[in-house]
Amino acid sequence: MKATARAHTNIALIKYWGKRNESLILPTNSNLSVTLDGFSTETTVHFQEDLKKDIFLLNEQNVEGNALEKVAVFLDKVRALSGKELYAQVQSVNHVPTAAGFASSASGLAALAAASAKAIGVSLNDTELSKLARQGSGSACRSIYGGFVEWQMGEREDGADSFAVQVADKSHWDIRIAAVVLSKTTKKVSSREGMRRTVETSPFYAGWLEQTPKDLQEIKQAIAEKDFEKMGSIAEANCLRMHATTLGANPPFTYWQDTTMRVMQTVQNLREKGIPVFFTIDAGPNVKVLYLSEDEDKVKKRLQSIEGVEDIIVSKPGSGISYL
Ligand code: DP6
Repeated sequence: MKATARAHTNIALIKYWGKRNESLILPTNSNLSVTLDGFSTETTVHFQEDLKKDIFLLNEQNVEGNALEKVAVFLDKVRALSGKELYAQVQSVNHVPTAAGFASSASGLAALAAASAKAIGVSLNDTELSKLARQGSGSACRSIYGGFVEWQMGEREDGADSFAVQVADKSHWDIRIAAVVLSKTTKKVSSREGMRRTVETSPFYAGWLEQTPKDLQEIKQAIAEKDFEKMGSIAEANCLRMHATTLGANPPFTYWQDTTMRVMQTVQNLREKGIPVFFTIDAGPNVKVLYLSEDEDKVKKRLQSIEGVEDIIVSKPGSGISYL
């Protein structure tokens, strides 16, 4: 009744931004990400007869409160699937090069889904595992797969057709994704709260919903053709549109900080000098920068020189779930 799984985190090129069903975690738009080899979570789940409640250790520290509650609520779904009423000890280790707010719910919930299903003895294929992980955190459903991954929103209200599929394997395209770590980050609005507030109150949200399916179609074509300029410009525009919706929310908010803007401007300057480089940003101030391997030295050097940038962590497209 014990299993260990590893999952990598992912960065969305077409964002998931809004839910049509909060409890099943069903999105309002299909979206697409690339799995990153530089950030992963390794989770061991051990169901035991003698436990009176779930226990959660993260990086060897005992965790209580909301984070434990999220794990326990998720394990309830796994218990319901298996019909077994056993509590578990969950041990997670985040492999994140620096402690800079990059610990992701995507790799965490994907690893938890895989390890807990295996430990309790329910055998799930990748599609079923993706649907299970989705109910822990939406973006986690994409981390079941490596490479380029689409989360198809589905149409059904029970979520049976809302899961991720691989669009292209990690070996398809050897691009680079640099995570730019900022030295100071203030407390953010969680992605969960941010997307809820935006869906409910932002008049710009309708524009987001109108454009995003077109972005998704085009980026899939760009990935298939390995057209880097096309892929990067669609991803950057889609990111800016997502962040624009937050400025229209009530109360309005933004995830950007001064250094976020400096990184964005640097990327645009590099592009003016003829280097194909693009950015994307999730629900936080850190920026991910996309470029080709031959431009690594120039891009890294320029990003490192920006005031307020602490570190640059470079990833390639990474792999999906594995069992240890
Ligand atoms: C901005 O997957 O963290 O990173 O489903 O509420 O757990 P919940 O949200 P989460 O949201 C990620 C939002 C995003 C865009 C993306 O990853 O597609």
